[in-house]
Amino acid sequence: MSIQFFTPRGPKNEFLKLPATYRRTVRWLPQIGDIFPDFSVETTQGPLSLWDWAGGSWVHLFSHPAAFTPVCTTELASFASLNDDWKANNIKLLGLTGSSVDSQQRWHIEIEDLFDVSIDFPNGHDKGMNLARLFGMIHDHESPDWPIRKSFLLDPIMRIQMIFEYPMYIGRNSEEILRVAKALQLRAETGAATPADWEIGDMAIVPDEMSDAAARRMFGAAPRTLTPYLKIVDCKPANSNAQPLVCG
Ligand code: BEZ
Repeated sequence: MSIQFFTPRGPKNEFLKLPATYRRTVRWLPQIGDIFPDFSVETTQGPLSLWDWAGGSWVHLFSHPAAFTPVCTTELASFASLNDDWKANNIKLLGLTGSSVDSQQRWHIEIEDLFDVSIDFPNGHDKGMNLARLFGMIHDHESPDWPIRKSFLLDPIMRIQMIFEYPMYIGRNSEEILRVAKALQLRAETGAATPADWEIGDMAIVPDEMSDAAARRMFGAAPRTLTPYLKIVDCKPANSNAQPLVCG
C-alpha cells in the first residue's frame, strides 16, 4: 500500500487548515466499491482466509472492541438471534476483535447461556489489532486502544457494498444490517434501487439508467411514474408465477 503526504485543499485549491493533530499521512482505507483484501486470521472456529471461507456468500464482516464487554455482548447475542435469517439470505458473519480466541470462546458460552442463542459464526483474533488498523477500525479519538464497531457488507465477489461505523458505546441494530443486505441483494439481482425505510415487499425504485421497457421485463409490470425522476415498481419477477423475486 502506498503512502502519500496529504495536503488537503478546498474547491478553489486553497489550503485547508486542519487541527495539527489531524494532519497525517493518507493511506488506503476500504471504500464502497473496493474489493476487500484477502486476509487470514485465527478464529473461534479455527483458522480461515476470508476469500476462501466466504465461498460465494455475502459477508457481514464486523469489528467490535473486546470480549467480555457489555455492548459487545448484546451485539453478538443480537447477531446470533438472526442466525436463520443470515443463512436464508446467503450471508456469512465474521467478527474481528483484539481478544484471544480462548477468551472469546469462554465469552461466547456466557452469551449463549444468558441470551439462549447459539453463536455459530466465527470470530477472529486480530493480533495486535493490525487488521483493525489496516481497515480503518481504530479511530484514535474514540479510542486508541480498541476498535470501533465497524461493519462491512461484502458481495459474493468480495466487493464492499456497505460500510457502517458506530462508536464504542452504541450497539448496532442487526435487523438494520439484514435489511440493508437484502436491499443490496435486490439491487444486485434486479438493478432496482430502494427508497428510504424500505423493507422486503415494499415498492422499489426504478433508477434513471433503467428504461421502462427493461423495468417491465424485469418486474412484469410497468413502473409507476410519480415524477419524471421518481419511478416505482412492485418488485416481482417478470417471468415467474408471481413469486416475489427477492423481496419476500
Ligand atoms: C462495550 O462493549 O460496552 C464497550 C467496550 C469497549 C469500550 C466501551 C464499551
